Amino acid sequence: MQKLAIQGGFPLHGEVRISGAKNAALPIMCASLLSAETLQLSNVPDLHDVVTMRKLLQQMGVRAEVQGEHLALDGGQIDKLEAPYDMVKTMRASVLVLGPLVARFGEARVSLPGGCAIGSRPVDLHIKGLQAMGAQISIEHGYIHAQVPAQGGVKKLKGARIFFDIVSVTGTENLMMAATLAEGVTVLENAAREPEVVDLAMCLIEMGANISGAGSDTITIVGVDKLHGAEHRIMPDRIESGTFLVAAAATGGSITLRDTRADILDTVLEKLTEAGATIRVEADTIHLEMHARPKSVNLRTAPYPAFPTDMQAQFMALNTIATESAMMVQTIFENRFMHVQELRRLGAQIEVEGNTAMVRGVPQLEGAAVMATDLRASACLVIAGLVAQGETIIDRIYHLDRGYAHIEAKLTQLGANIRRLK
Ligand code: EPZ
Repeated sequence: MQKLAIQGGFPLHGEVRISGAKNAALPIMCASLLSAETLQLSNVPDLHDVVTMRKLLQQMGVRAEVQGEHLALDGGQIDKLEAPYDMVKTMRASVLVLGPLVARFGEARVSLPGGCAIGSRPVDLHIKGLQAMGAQISIEHGYIHAQVPAQGGVKKLKGARIFFDIVSVTGTENLMMAATLAEGVTVLENAAREPEVVDLAMCLIEMGANISGAGSDTITIVGVDKLHGAEHRIMPDRIESGTFLVAAAATGGSITLRDTRADILDTVLEKLTEAGATIRVEADTIHLEMHARPKSVNLRTAPYPAFPTDMQAQFMALNTIATESAMMVQTIFENRFMHVQELRRLGAQIEVEGNTAMVRGVPQLEGAAVMATDLRASACLVIAGLVAQGETIIDRIYHLDRGYAHIEAKLTQLGANIRRLK
């Protein structure tokens, strides 16, 4: 198991370039299954999850060519309609191959994703939506087996009106992709409004899909016969952006993010300003300065455009050293406070009651050995290590590598004292 060793107490200063968004790249890579032509992607982040998704697509017959942050995916020779358990168990987002495979080939076998550290995370809404579009779905030996009955020699999904009783990001993405090749009109109601959903919709439209309403809670897709190749640049990662901004605020530094977008970070920038940071936004850059100990900020996570659940853990690290107490309410997943135990080892004062954490700020954290439990919890521990007195060793940092490209290189560039222990 690789570890990170961090000597705390160094304010972050300088510039960092933000990579492409993991949660846009993963669904957009699956869109290559919808076309027999080549999808040319740029600004693809160098992440473990992106490599896993590429390998999953390749074992289905998608031809991939990687050149740095450029990825070409050709869905013209797909010969296997299955996503095996050993790949799906490491990455829930693998379920995003289900909609495209059923839409284009009328059949798919995708392993049920296991639970994960942050909650059970079922895919019942994905399945219900495909059933509403005419797919027959059975669960056999841990696999979702979907089939579209042939009618007149073709196996095509039918457009349907689908209501999400819970807002689901990948549920919206899976069904939006499936609907692009269905017969007739599909309306997704109470759809997810995340910017990554919009980026996927833009890519699908560039491929010839007929989609309107992405970014609102009602998305309408008019099915077309087929999709063609296209070129698409992955949007910047808003969670990576938020993570670096919180790290700079926590360490009392001043940094500039390049190749990012501020218009999709409103609630995060607002909370950082409330914590006492000075923020300046230009075209694709965000500049943050922090000159005092952060003020405590209360927050409640909810679907976009409200405060993102993927930023909760990072703000908890900020609140542990803030001036007062903060109440943090987690409304999306049932178990996303795994980092609390680890923060307590660093001297944080946190009480958890159900889905609410009360964080009482302390003047100083003390370095210690801690363990990462999930992707954003590991980012939280990095931030805590950057501010703690002395050395913090973080174990199981494979979680971190899933969602942050070259994080120790980027932090070192900003003046952090951090190194990876083999
Ligand atoms: C996406 O996960 C993101 N992952 C997550 O980011 C993010 O935390 C989450 O959305 C919420 O914003 C990707 O985009 C690859 P959901 P997803 O379906 O789609 C329940 C990260 O750190 N639900 O929006 O899996 C579910 O249990 C990751 O990058 C059902 O009940 O999340 C949860 O409570 C972590 N049935 C809620 O909805 C379903 O069929 C939201 O889940 C689907 C979801």
